[in-house]
Amino acid sequence: MDAAYKRVNGDHEPEAEPEEPNTGRGRRGSMYLEEETNKKSEMITCIFSLKEEVGALARGLRLFEEKGINLTHIESRPSRMNKENFEFFISVDASCSQALDEVIDSLRTQISGAVHELSRNKEKDTVPWFPNDIQDLDRFANQILSYGSELDSDHPGFTDSVYRARRKEFADIAFNYRHGQIIPRVEYTEEEKATWGTVFKELKTLYPTHACHEHNRVFPLLEKYCGYRQDNIPQLEDVSRFLQSCTGFRLRPVAGLLSSRDFLAGLAFRVFHSTQYIRHGSKPTYTPEPDICHELLGHVPLFADSSFAQFSQEIGLASLGAPDEFIEKLATVYWFTVEFGLCKQGSEIKAYGAGLLSSFGELQYCLSDEPRVLPFDPAKTSLQKYPITEYQPVYFVAESFEDAKEKVRKFAATIPRPFTVRYNPYTQSIEVLDNTQQLRNLADCINSEVGKLCEALRKLD
Ligand SMILES: [Fe+2]
Repeated sequence: MDAAYKRVNGDHEPEAEPEEPNTGRGRRGSMYLEEETNKKSEMITCIFSLKEEVGALARGLRLFEEKGINLTHIESRPSRMNKENFEFFISVDASCSQALDEVIDSLRTQISGAVHELSRNKEKDTVPWFPNDIQDLDRFANQILSYGSELDSDHPGFTDSVYRARRKEFADIAFNYRHGQIIPRVEYTEEEKATWGTVFKELKTLYPTHACHEHNRVFPLLEKYCGYRQDNIPQLEDVSRFLQSCTGFRLRPVAGLLSSRDFLAGLAFRVFHSTQYIRHGSKPTYTPEPDICHELLGHVPLFADSSFAQFSQEIGLASLGAPDEFIEKLATVYWFTVEFGLCKQGSEIKAYGAGLLSSFGELQYCLSDEPRVLPFDPAKTSLQKYPITEYQPVYFVAESFEDAKEKVRKFAATIPRPFTVRYNPYTQSIEVLDNTQQLRNLADCINSEVGKLCEALRKLD
């Protein structure tokens, strides 16, 4: 669930609360991202975690001693991420910066400790932290802006204690989830199924005429393989497995709102953070936040399409290490494409954005004469302001997903980053292409693929 997404999927309701800034820095409880430099004290602080065993801390501290680093502060606590680990929060004088680099290196290589710098007198162009490995998504999955059971006072379920308790159950599932685990199956109640049924039935009547053909191509497959039915809410695990077999995309349950930076980073790994709860039964056509109807009916069909999957991943890759102002621009591009995008299909225009495909009202409105429709151009689209509680006054039309992907790639090249990244699907990690060895490996890889392509072409002749 993306922090930028806080709007309706159907009728319109009260004004939303102001968004929390998506700075990605210094967020509540964040222990992995940089925080503002404390210029007065000129201290460097970091957290390292070690496996809880006799002598582990002594070995770690010896590394500091060997480099002549004086620890001005040290605290310990059980790790929140790994019950077998202990975390140590330390501060050292900024003059030890270089020696600290060597100690951090040794901690990582000799003691296999995980180290996270919290502050340092950084240069202006410091690159914000980003996940390198798909497992790293565990680190921020719970760095949420609000817990899933905390409802605004204007939420239809605000005064319903049973609904709130249910939301807490879903939030807890997500909170305890770790990469690689099976997403727990949920027994949905009759009331929840009825809500789903209402939404499912209404939207299904519009898809043949309003949804893009990629959505219409995949939808019957979801009915066949994933239990998409009016009387059944599909399980995230089943849907995630289906997506993995189509495009490598997978779902991950999320306990609340993520910052834009974190949400977009997931896309770089073809991971989509998905809600599992359903909207309040009193208003089946309205939800002030994404719910499972929005995710499964709006997002999932498109993530099963290879061009769209690549396009989405391209936005995610562009976000890694990008400065805050570009994260905001990318979140806006995401909004006008993955959430509210239109695309040309032959002589017609169809909807592919999940916010449209999960809203009976807006799906009809977006293809009417009422809204303005502009060509998708990331440089311009990224600056477009948008309302979050009303139908969009402006939509952007992509020529095709391929074309949109190329445009996002060119836009990404304008982001001031001192490196280029690529995703390695074999290791499920991000490769930073900033040295000749990495480039040589990539060239070998491309060479081998081009060889196969030429061979296949020869065989077709
Ligand atoms: Fe969404």
